[in-house]
Amino acid sequence: MDTGVDGTGVDGTGGNGTGDGFKQATASSGKTDKELRGDYSAMRADFTIDQGWDRYTDTDHALWRTLYDRQSRLLPRYAAPEFMDCLSRLDAGDGVPDFRRASERLEAATGWTIVAVPGLIPEGAFFDHLAARRFPVTNWIRKPEEMDYLEEPDVFHDFFGHVPLLMHPVFADYMQAYGKGGQRALKLGRIENLARLYWYTVEFGLIAGRDGLKVFGAGILSSAGETPYAIESRSPNRIGFELERVMRTRYRIDDYQQTYFVIDSFEQLFEATFVDFGPIYQRLAGLPEFGPAEVLSTDRVFTHGTQERVRGLAAE
Ligand code: PHE
Ligand code: CO
Repeated sequence: MDTGVDGTGVDGTGGNGTGDGFKQATASSGKTDKELRGDYSAMRADFTIDQGWDRYTDTDHALWRTLYDRQSRLLPRYAAPEFMDCLSRLDAGDGVPDFRRASERLEAATGWTIVAVPGLIPEGAFFDHLAARRFPVTNWIRKPEEMDYLEEPDVFHDFFGHVPLLMHPVFADYMQAYGKGGQRALKLGRIENLARLYWYTVEFGLIAGRDGLKVFGAGILSSAGETPYAIESRSPNRIGFELERVMRTRYRIDDYQQTYFVIDSFEQLFEATFVDFGPIYQRLAGLPEFGPAEVLSTDRVFTHGTQERVRGLAAE
């Protein structure tokens, strides 16, 4: 997904030892301080490469199937029905998907395509792709010993987590609007605020469905550990989505989230963000931020978390 070298694309997941982590990179400013793992040598000016689908080994495909099957068993209980529906339409369970084939289906559905990248890319390039309805997907897959833990997003996170909802018309428009908003936020110096919106929706968002809270964030959906945690654990807060509240809330990149924000529908999310962020950024510049576990008196609280996971980690 995203960014990296930069950031805002942010992606999430916690790296950490948590789940499947990976990503982080920072949303904020980007720049990871580690060496990135992909091969950036054959890159075009827009940071894309050929996927090189023929070069995946049997081990790569087998690992994809293992990850895919594990999440497929888990997700019917936890994922938003919109995600499940889109996932099945991609028909991507047999092995590492060929981006050309997936792009055909995606383009027919919503006009999005997938482009291969070596990994995290600079935020400006990331936003430019999104604004043109192109989603950058990392081409390499993790190693078998990294099933549950990864520091950078790989093809499983990027494709399995992010691509399905690009088949959804409203979510597809939201992602493009985010790309355009990113180009603007870069100019205005408010990337940090915008990155938090991405983090708490695209990567770690929950949605209130007919039968309770469900997951739509890619950072959760690609993680076997964070998926049940996000819905069932007593530890994290679950708070109704409110744009400025989200944009003021710091997040952790090193463990499961301490707070999840809950949207009512993709339409609500799109409407809330389809406003001019200029005046909002101006206002936010003078306001304090919130910590990742804070609960405010103004919050619409679904769960006031115990934060026992964090206390447990601290006690170890
Ligand atoms: N409305 C935002 C702006 O004016 C752009 C945006 C839309 C950002 C949707 C994120 C998601 O900058
Ligand atoms: Co991501």
